[in-house]
Amino acid sequence: MENDVIEIRDEKELPREKVLALYQACRWSAADKPDELLRALAGSHSVISAWKGEELLGLANAISDGALVVYYPHLLVSPSHQQSGIGRRIMQKMNERYGSLHQQVLLAVDDAYGFYQRLGFRDTAGVRPMWVYHGSDM
Ligand SMILES: CC(C)(COP(=O)(O)OP(=O)(O)OC[C@H]1O[C@@H](n2cnc3c(N)ncnc32)[C@H](O)[C@@H]1OP(=O)(O)O)[C@@H](O)C(=O)NCCC(=O)NCCS
Repeated sequence: MENDVIEIRDEKELPREKVLALYQACRWSAADKPDELLRALAGSHSVISAWKGEELLGLANAISDGALVVYYPHLLVSPSHQQSGIGRRIMQKMNERYGSLHQQVLLAVDDAYGFYQRLGFRDTAGVRPMWVYHGSDM
């Protein structure tokens, strides 16, 4: 089983080139702001990553007040390893830490909506997500 060799790490300082390669592989525009991206991860409340040996296969970060609310800005799995349980394992680790909080919040792209539904996330009935976005991939 692939997951037998996948290691989940809980550390905020990650190798720059491996992070950028992952974001580029997923075509996420945050890769165009490498300094900010690395600072964002280092400044997060948590960063959970998935590794096969020294290959970075996926990561997620969390921003939290540590008491009531957590927001999950990023979750991405390398296209070559999607659909093999890595995203679920990363979010399970987040859930161990934040699952008891009053609110866990995220913005799901349409393609990831079903994935988050499987993990228990629901539509914000009566509440509209809103943002000001300066990325280039939406
Ligand atoms: C969305 C993403 C994080 C899912 O990670 P993953 O490792 O491929 O997903 P997993 O293999 O852990 O899937 C867990 C379950 O969700 C299902 N699933 C995975 N992706 C799905 C999708 N896009 N839609 C519906 N279900 C999905 C799997 O079939 C699996 O189902 P199971 O409960 O029957 O086993 C990954 O596809 C990805 O990085 N996509 C590109 C970046 C992205 O869209 N990130 C989210 C931004 S909001």
